[in-house]
Amino acid sequence: MKDFDYLGAGEVYLDAACQSLRPRPVVEALEQYYYRHNSCGERVKYLWGVKTDELVEGTRKKILKLLKLSARDYFVSFTLNTTYGINLLLNSLGGFSSADAGASKGSGSGRLGAASAGGSGFGGAGFEVRKLVTSEIEHNSPFLATMARAERLGVPRVVLKRAEDGALLMEDTDFAGAVVVVNCAANFDGRRLVNLKEVVKRVHKDGGIVIIDAAQAMAHYHEMLEKTEADAICFSAHKMYASSLGVMVVRRDLIPRLSLCFVGGGMVDDVFEDRYVLSAVGNKDHAHTIFEAGLQAWGEIISLGAAIGWLNGRTKEDKCRLEACTRELDEFLRGKSRVRMVGAEANPTMSFYVEGVDSHLLGAALGKEGIMARTGYFCAHYYLDKVLGMPPLMRFSLSYATREEDIERVKKALAKI
Ligand SMILES: Cc1ncc(COP(=O)(O)O)c(C=O)c1O
Repeated sequence: MKDFDYLGAGEVYLDAACQSLRPRPVVEALEQYYYRHNSCGERVKYLWGVKTDELVEGTRKKILKLLKLSARDYFVSFTLNTTYGINLLLNSLGGFSSADAGASKGSGSGRLGAASAGGSGFGGAGFEVRKLVTSEIEHNSPFLATMARAERLGVPRVVLKRAEDGALLMEDTDFAGAVVVVNCAANFDGRRLVNLKEVVKRVHKDGGIVIIDAAQAMAHYHEMLEKTEADAICFSAHKMYASSLGVMVVRRDLIPRLSLCFVGGGMVDDVFEDRYVLSAVGNKDHAHTIFEAGLQAWGEIISLGAAIGWLNGRTKEDKCRLEACTRELDEFLRGKSRVRMVGAEANPTMSFYVEGVDSHLLGAALGKEGIMARTGYFCAHYYLDKVLGMPPLMRFSLSYATREEDIERVKKALAKI
């Protein structure tokens, strides 16, 4: 494809689950920002800043539009990556003590709904976290973050099982006071949270909160999240053809349940010697600022807007090519008697090992043939190593940048090795 024409003929990039290759329009949007209107967002009155504001706001709108979510119900904040977003949310939930309440009276810190934090209008009952819930197939990002938060709060953590089709097995779990963090698509075989709607409904009915890790869903399965009622969605722009950036899409009615983690520039409307007025509390259009302490990655945010435009422009032909490449490689691998695949279905993200072959050596040998693919446990150690008891694996993750000839090259190289 012309948007990836910088890729050499002998270079086969199959590591899109980590970071997609960036199509030219995304890189050009980043260049435009640096060359044409390099300026700080949301603070600057000169023309470059006006342009930056317009494009940054445009990206927030495009994200909500892509997910068919209303700005009345959700807001969009930017962070470093999925991991950062999940940690930020978890650390903003629960942990209220009388000391917090006292601090918020004097300093304007603490609970976001507290009147002293700006006379909000947001309310502010907080949220008492009684347990953390995650699933067995998670990336270390939510897996470790839920572990650390549960430890810190002194509450239990439950690891639920997932069916082979990716459904979360909730059984008789009580989600009262629970913060549930689960992925929408796994990073080793792409299995999806097929009962996403049911999960959100059930957790809400019990009085819990749902955070969706959509890191692997946004490039090819964002439809799954359309009109979701989840409390928050975290994802990484760098896995959806955009620059390195984290995104949090958060329900507005979560705000009164949050306490403030970080505070700094760009978050306040007024400051006194010992108190401040949060913009998020005083102005609903500034809700996103509660997670955006300090300067943001303006160019990267703008290029995410370009990436969403580019994704929306994918043709039937592009989708068919990705599907055909996936099917071809999946069938080739499943047809080999010594290959053991993870998961039962073909997916652009596929993991396997070859009996009697060290995956790391295989990865290095493929690397010498120009094939870039990952080996190991892909930060899903618990499930792949402890639950499945598999040796380190090889992962191919395909994308719209994958060409038919890449698959032929991989097949030939594997046969040769
Ligand atoms: C399912 C899933 N969740 C979370 C992450 C963490 O993403 P990041 O490293 O961008 O924070 C990844 C990264 O591969 C992932 O695949």
